[in-house]
Amino acid sequence: MSDRGAPGFPNGWYAVGWSKDLGVGDVRRIRYFDNEMVLFRGRSGEAHVLDAYCPHLGAHLAEGGRVQGESVRCPFHGWEFDGASGECSKIPYCARIPTRARVRAWDVCERNHMIFVWHHAEGKPPGWDVPQIPYLDDPAWSPVRLWEAEVPVHIQDMAENNLDPVHFEYVHKMTATPDTEISLEEDGRVMHAVSYSTQETPLGAFDMQLVRKTWCIGLASVESSGIPGVGLYMFTSTTPIDRDHTISRWALTATNNAVDVAGEEWMANITKGLSDDYQIWTNKIHRADPVLCEADTLLVEFRRWVKQFYSSEQT
Ligand code: FES
Ligand SMILES: [Fe+2]
Repeated sequence: MSDRGAPGFPNGWYAVGWSKDLGVGDVRRIRYFDNEMVLFRGRSGEAHVLDAYCPHLGAHLAEGGRVQGESVRCPFHGWEFDGASGECSKIPYCARIPTRARVRAWDVCERNHMIFVWHHAEGKPPGWDVPQIPYLDDPAWSPVRLWEAEVPVHIQDMAENNLDPVHFEYVHKMTATPDTEISLEEDGRVMHAVSYSTQETPLGAFDMQLVRKTWCIGLASVESSGIPGVGLYMFTSTTPIDRDHTISRWALTATNNAVDVAGEEWMANITKGLSDDYQIWTNKIHRADPVLCEADTLLVEFRRWVKQFYSSEQT
């Protein structure tokens, strides 16, 4: 079973690259949502994403394509495609441009050190914006640390892990299952999950509060508090590559007063957490209709919440 029973791709904003990795005039081949695309930065500095295959004879626009102003030029016969609209803006050897000479242009948004595209299974336009996170560029907070990992699991199963308190004991070897409360805002789309746990830190043991805010499946932040005067913050975007593969990008920062002591260990702990999960994720299947027990109330809420991100034919 190649997709291991997983649903399609949920609707929402997804990171497709780091801002720092795309200079003006750069052209990158990317593949997300089981779809080949070209990512490039026009001369104005704006990032663009188009479907990859040229409508002329099917060349891949990222394999030898070049930036011309705000367009990308196909390597095969030089047709140019506008980054904003996807329309063919020029055929160097013809005055008339066929009306069907266009590729799909994706809605792009660049912020929080990441480049995002809007994915919607029915092609609907973005219904909300990627939040701007002030901590990631605040001089009172450390320069961001960027980290990414590709995981062979469906995006929903990766996200579900955050509302599965029991696995923290079994997989992450925590001594107790953390208490977690969840609440919803903005018509039920944005989810807050607050967990409480006692954590050993280089500054001593503290009762920590973890506030996780999730804007859609795969777009989330985690803010940790409980050490007086110290802030720890993580912003993450997780993107489906295909039904079996997902990439997660994390931007981490800590208040400057904490970065030397708590910050480094906190960041190392978070990345270690992911490797604990890896064996489970790599080998699991997706259960569309799992057998749940009475302790699984958060999982039930999570499954109910995720439904809104799927167009009906996908689940
Ligand atoms: S295949 Fe792209 S211009 Fe011919
Ligand atoms: Fe986990």
